[in-house]
Amino acid sequence: MSLDAWDFGDYPYANMPLVLPDPNVRYDGADPRGASDELELLDTATGDPGVPPDSAERLFWFRWIVGNQAATALWQILDDELELVLSGEVPSAARNAEALLDGYSVLLIYSGSLTTELYARLIRPAMGLQHRSFTGRWAQDYVPVMARLQALRTAYRKRARPPFVDSLIAASKRNHRTHMAIAAKLVPGEESLLRANHDLASLGVATADTIRLYDAFYSTSRELVPRAKVVEQLISRIRASRRDLRTNGLYPANWSSWHERPAGMWDEEIQTLERDATDVLTACARAAAAALHIQPAQPAHRNGERRS
Ligand code: HEM
Repeated sequence: MSLDAWDFGDYPYANMPLVLPDPNVRYDGADPRGASDELELLDTATGDPGVPPDSAERLFWFRWIVGNQAATALWQILDDELELVLSGEVPSAARNAEALLDGYSVLLIYSGSLTTELYARLIRPAMGLQHRSFTGRWAQDYVPVMARLQALRTAYRKRARPPFVDSLIAASKRNHRTHMAIAAKLVPGEESLLRANHDLASLGVATADTIRLYDAFYSTSRELVPRAKVVEQLISRIRASRRDLRTNGLYPANWSSWHERPAGMWDEEIQTLERDATDVLTACARAAAAALHIQPAQPAHRNGERRS
């Protein structure tokens, strides 16, 4: 077992910028070596580096940003897989999409693993200063995903579903319940910033400006990067989260929010995702690579060019 040295950002629990193409742009032809390397490291770099964070603020800011960035990269891959299910009922695409959706659910749990108090003191004010009505509705990469998930449910409402579609729809429902549960955990009895400021009608639909503000908050910039680079950035963030989970656990002893989980909403399926968080994230990373037919790096390359 090799040590999983911190190789994400400038220091442990640092964040990095995310670079994505616009959600409607796909650029395929490129060298997938970076993604192959990341895939290989998923299996080989598994030892705990044992570097604890120096504060709760450092740890949970890292989790909030890295988890949201990973979700954003993931949505681009998920969008394509859902399209293949909708247009051709492709079983492998449905299985990839299911693993990606469960990965997204775990990322919600991971980003939302801070206490209600810390969320109210650290995250919500920062988003509110970026824009008083800051909302996930300005996540431009999620818009096509939401439309395809709705189309999927509509398409199979009256039609017999193959088991793999059934399973995919169940993952989508599980994901919706997880989002609701995280919202109730972090903002109990209160409204989202968008609703609290009575801006739902005017700002519920994203504009070019609100989309840029949302991207900027999560250090996301838009360039024509290839799909393999999107997968590479997703896997590197999943590896960083797994490293954190190995070191600190999902609910670190000193700053645990375990008891704040809303019992009525934290159903058995969410508990299973939570318990198997690391494995679900790993399966999600593999599904993203499989969607692009990316294999782990070959041994020859491993010996010659591997980063330190
Ligand atoms: C953990 C990270 C989170 C992610 C990645 C996320 C993502 C999203 C996305 C993509 C949307 C737009 C799609 C939709 O309307 O379903 C959304 C909407 C929404 N989210 Fe979240 N969310 C997160 C945390 C939260 C939290 C902590 C709350 C607590 C208030 C929350 C409450 C809402 C609400 C109420 C909406 C509907 C629109 C609005 O009123 O702003 N979410 N979220």
